[in-house]
Amino acid sequence: MKLIHKDLLSIHDLTADEVVHILDVAEKLKTMQKRGVPHEFCKGKTLAMLFSKASTRTRVSFETGFYQLGGHALYLSDKDSQIGRGEPIRDTARVLSRMVDGIMIRTFSHDAVVELARYADIPVINGLTDLLHPCQALTDLLTIREHRGTLRGRKLVYVGDGNNMAHSLMYACAKVGMDMVCASPAGYQPNPVVVRQAQEDAHAMGCTISVEPDLRKAAAGADVLYTDVWTSMGEEAERDIRRQALHEYQINSGLLQVAKDDALVMHCLPAHRGEEITEDVLEGPHSVVFDEAENRMHTQKAIMVLLMSDAAL
Ligand code: CP
Ligand code: NVA
Repeated sequence: MKLIHKDLLSIHDLTADEVVHILDVAEKLKTMQKRGVPHEFCKGKTLAMLFSKASTRTRVSFETGFYQLGGHALYLSDKDSQIGRGEPIRDTARVLSRMVDGIMIRTFSHDAVVELARYADIPVINGLTDLLHPCQALTDLLTIREHRGTLRGRKLVYVGDGNNMAHSLMYACAKVGMDMVCASPAGYQPNPVVVRQAQEDAHAMGCTISVEPDLRKAAAGADVLYTDVWTSMGEEAERDIRRQALHEYQINSGLLQVAKDDALVMHCLPAHRGEEITEDVLEGPHSVVFDEAENRMHTQKAIMVLLMSDAAL
């Protein structure tokens, strides 16, 4: 099954069936890789990876994953490319379309990624913007499914800043019938447009998406407690004020008591121990954060195969 859209910019653009299909293909590719079964579905293809922000997981998982698919990935940071010197995104899109087979981009403005996709003839994959982080949220669904078997009817509670991660998790949960509560204080709540769109999708799937500033109320009965940094890339000047505003929005052993006994603890990483999550919980038995990190590679391989090859998976 091919994906309807040329690009993967937002989980909101995917159908519920497409989301499940991406997870199924990721699972298949993960099994093939673990068993040493060749799966060079993108043999001879090239992926350009454009980075305007730092990365460990995204860069390594795309680059290694595409290599395992038989392809070659090019790393282009702002400082090594003409993008950093102001070459228009629409020119970059048309130039790269003549040379490579796909583009992965991590940048600030989501609109820039939409523009890149509009001008590119080849697939564009969103590797994080200020608004969204879809590859991470799809990965998180895979990780929950691996640990719990099913997704529908589960409750994910996101703790902290209503940021790109919160937004993509809202879209993701809504597509698979999971309830999600975003526990964030006033001033740090998610974008209301994203909330409304996710709520519409959730309504169609019979689940709920909500925002609840009362953290303990939100976390009651959670199957998954999820958090992300209080200060995202590009917000460093606000670090002190964010620390103050968000200091109660932490996953710690007290909060874990309110969730289900077997709740999973998740974090997209990098983590700031002692801020959004305590050391004991991050390193404790509920934490699946390194499974999430590994699954980035398997999930993104699925996305690249589905967008960039004709493989019938
Ligand atoms: N979770 C995530 O996207 O990590 P990186 O910033 O290291 O890519
Ligand atoms: N919200 C974080 C996610 C990092 C993977 C950021 O944008 O910096």
